[in-house]
Amino acid sequence: MSDSVYDTKRLMQPDALRRMVLDLRQMETFIEDPLVITGADGVWYEDINGKRILDGISGVFVVTVGHNNRRVIDAMKAQLDTMSFAPPLHATNLAAIELVNRLADVTPDDLNTVKLLSGGSEATEAAMKLAKQYHRQTGNPNKYKIIARYQGYHGATMGALSATGTPRRKTMFEPTLPGYLHVHPPTCYRCPYEKTYPECDVFCARTIDEMIQMEGPETVAAVIVEPIGNTGGVITPPDEYLPTLRRICDEHDVLLIFDEIITGFGRTGQMFASQTFGTTPDILCMGKGMSSGYIPLAGIAFRDRIGEAFLGRDEDEVEFSHGHTYGGNPLASVAGLACLGEIVERDLPARAREMGAYLREQLEGLKDLGIIGEVRGRGLMVGVEFVEDPEMKKPFGQDVKFGVQVGKAALKKGLLTRFDPHWIAFAPPLIITREEIDILMDIFTESIKETLKAMGR
Ligand SMILES: Cc1ncc(COP(=O)(O)O)c(C=O)c1O
Repeated sequence: MSDSVYDTKRLMQPDALRRMVLDLRQMETFIEDPLVITGADGVWYEDINGKRILDGISGVFVVTVGHNNRRVIDAMKAQLDTMSFAPPLHATNLAAIELVNRLADVTPDDLNTVKLLSGGSEATEAAMKLAKQYHRQTGNPNKYKIIARYQGYHGATMGALSATGTPRRKTMFEPTLPGYLHVHPPTCYRCPYEKTYPECDVFCARTIDEMIQMEGPETVAAVIVEPIGNTGGVITPPDEYLPTLRRICDEHDVLLIFDEIITGFGRTGQMFASQTFGTTPDILCMGKGMSSGYIPLAGIAFRDRIGEAFLGRDEDEVEFSHGHTYGGNPLASVAGLACLGEIVERDLPARAREMGAYLREQLEGLKDLGIIGEVRGRGLMVGVEFVEDPEMKKPFGQDVKFGVQVGKAALKKGLLTRFDPHWIAFAPPLIITREEIDILMDIFTESIKETLKAMGR
């Protein structure tokens, strides 16, 4: 699969690599043992040394339909022969119209208006701006505050970052935008309020009601949450959590935004996590799996009453004051259509349910190793929290970085995951087979054992 057009020897030199800035990576360390991918097929990558790596995280929660999918590639090639760009201000194109209509079909309830975009941060930014403009032109000009959650991640741009709740990504850019407030997410395994589910009656959701009242409902525009939060280790809400948020938002005329950049397109066992948890947001943000990484593609879908508030003639001046050069690009749109076709026709959400259950069952079996506190998630979005003592739920000390050690060991052995000092996440392409999950489990188990041995345990 190696690509012979490039002068590999020159490009693999530290001086060539040092000119790059990878996402959230220290380049000097990266250069010591650079991972350069040269090919990908199904759930597998191949690196520049010919080593095969199992993609246990779909690149970064992206490659839902798998690598090297012929239907997507052929659709894009055919589109390139016709037109690669249409003017976004003056016109649209048939692929974009078709995609918007197909998305309206597969999103829940009346999320029937869609704005196409190119990346997850663009989508969350657009959702929050849409919420503010919606309130402004429907008689509530003072509703501007956004309530988000600690540990949430909504993107790297300034508005998305203001909603983000992880200090590591945020602190050096503060002050962020005014009007962003944060509450604790539903981390039932380790409740920040020291309560126990279900007796708590989802106190963490009810605190949002309290916050809206204390801030003044006439000042709050929206609540934004990831239905399942990745950062923090696949934070999976109890069943009542999202319906409770829905009720609270309705009571205060606050829009509910779901950031489904990761959870969308079959990942949690239904097309959207909104359907998995039976709760329809007012605005749904989508990205990543929308094009499975074949080209940048994202979007927001919103309810009829919001769509209607923006529908008008030139003299009404109620159009959404927002746009990006690549939104509704025809090449991205055909990729989105082909991916959606694959997900629907092959019923990949059902596959995510089946393979996810199998993966979680295998992971539960590793609790005997004495360092797994909880296995959580829905469908093929699965998290494992590591602890030093499962009975006491005692975490490893900060300096141990157990999850990082396991994640790095797994990568050396040919398994890509998303890892953190205290947890590891798995989100392989939805086409993964039982046999491939067995390989994933073998590498993961070996990596844990090796880490424990190095620690003298
Ligand atoms: C939940 C969530 N929202 C938004 C984003 C931002 O997406 P992007 O990196 O495409 O801008 C991400 C990216 O990881 C994400 O996980």
